[in-house]
Amino acid sequence: MASLSALVVFAVSLSFRGVSALPQASATSAALPTGTAVVQGLNYLAQNAGKLYFGTATDNSELNDTAYTSYMENNLHFGQITPENSMKWDATEPEPGTFTFTDGDVIADIAKNYGMYLRGHNLVWYEQLPDWVTANNYNATGLAAVVETHVTTEVAHYKGQVYAWDVINEPLNDNGTFREDVFYDTLGTDYITIALQAARAADPNAKLYINDYNIEYVGEKSTAMQNLVKQLQADNVPIDGIGMESHFIVGEVPTTLVENFQAFADLGIEFAITELDIRMELPETAANLDQQKTDFYTVVNACLQVSVCRGITVWDWTDKYSWVPSTFPGWGAATPFDDNLVEKPAFDGIVIALEGGSI
Ligand SMILES: *[C@@H]1O[C@H](CO)[C@@H](O)[C@H](O)[C@H]1NC(C)=O
Ligand SMILES: *[C@@H]1O[C@H](CO)[C@@H](O)[C@H](O)[C@H]1NC(C)=O
Ligand SMILES: *[C@@H]1O[C@H](CO)[C@@H](O)[C@H](O)[C@H]1NC(C)=O
Repeated sequence: MASLSALVVFAVSLSFRGVSALPQASATSAALPTGTAVVQGLNYLAQNAGKLYFGTATDNSELNDTAYTSYMENNLHFGQITPENSMKWDATEPEPGTFTFTDGDVIADIAKNYGMYLRGHNLVWYEQLPDWVTANNYNATGLAAVVETHVTTEVAHYKGQVYAWDVINEPLNDNGTFREDVFYDTLGTDYITIALQAARAADPNAKLYINDYNIEYVGEKSTAMQNLVKQLQADNVPIDGIGMESHFIVGEVPTTLVENFQAFADLGIEFAITELDIRMELPETAANLDQQKTDFYTVVNACLQVSVCRGITVWDWTDKYSWVPSTFPGWGAATPFDDNLVEKPAFDGIVIALEGGSI
C-alpha cells in the first residue's frame, strides 16, 4: 500500500486535474420543445444532478443517419461520446508503426463541435487487435516497445481532446486472475504499467482508466480489480479511474452496485459507467420493457449515490445501432430508444433517477 500522505496528495491532485477546461452544457444553448413527455435532455439532467456527463457510444457507420445525428449532436442530450470501434488498435495501427486516425478524428471532431467530453476507447486490449501484434512473436523487450509506441502515438495524437482514456481494456478473467493474452503472457503485469506511464507522459491531463465488465458488483473479479488499483498506487503507477462497463440483463441488475462503487471510491480514484445497456430476450414484451425502466433507474441511481461516479455512457442510445443482437443472438432491445429512435420506458427510468425521483 502507498503511505497515507501519498494517498492524500494523490486524492488532492485528482480533484484539480483536467476538468475545468472541459465543456458544460448550457441550459440556454439550444431551445428544446417543452411538454409533458419532453425533458431538457439527459445530459442537462445529469449535470444538474452533479455528474460531468450523460453520454453515448457511437460509430462512424451510423453518422450518415441524419435522424440519429440530429438528436445526438446536442449536448443537452449527450455531453460525452465514445467511439465504439474507430480508436481501437486494429483501426489505428493496422500495420506496425503505420497509424491511421481518420475515423477516430471524425468522432473527436463531433465531441469538439458540440461541446462534449470524449472518452478514448481503447489502447491495449486482446480483441480487435491486429494479427501482427501476436504473429510477430515479440520477446518482452520487443512487445514493451510495441505497446509504448502504440499508446504514445495515439494518446499524443488526441492530446488535449480526451477527458479519459480506457488505457487497459478487460485485463481480468471472471475469477479475478489476469487474462492470459499476448500482453500478459509476454510481459506479465508490466504491460499495464508500461501503457499507463506512456499515456500519462503523452497527455498529462487525460484521466487514465482501466475498463472491464463483471466488476460492477461485489465479487472476486471486483476484488481483483481493487487489488490491481492498490498495487498500481503502491508502485506509483498513474491510475485515475475504473470503467464499469455495465452490460446487464433485464431483471438481473446486480443488487450490490452502490456498495461496490463505494469500495472503488474509497481507493481515492474516480469511476464511470462506461458501456451501459440492459438486454432482454426477443421478442420484447411490455413486462420486460417495464422491468427495463426499473433497471435503468437502478443503475443511474447507483451512480448518483457515489460522488466520484463521473458519468454514465450508454453503449449506443438506440436499439437501431446496439451491438447486442449480433453479439448475443436472440437478445436485444437493450437501449433507452427503440429502432425508430423513440423513447422507451427505460428512458423514463433514467429521467426519474436523474431528477431524484423514485420508482
Ligand atoms: C449508412 O451507410 C451504411 C453503410 O455504411 C448503410 O448500410 C446505411 O444504409 C446508411 N444509412 C443511411 C441512413 O443512409
Ligand atoms: C528480443 O528481440 C530482439 C529483436 O528480435 C533481439 O534483438 C533481442 O536480442 C531479443 N532480446 C532478448 C532478451 O532475447
Ligand atoms: C480462472 O479463469 C481462467 C479463464 O477462464 C482459467 O484459465 C483459470 O484456470 C482460472 N483459474 C483458477 C484459479 O480457477
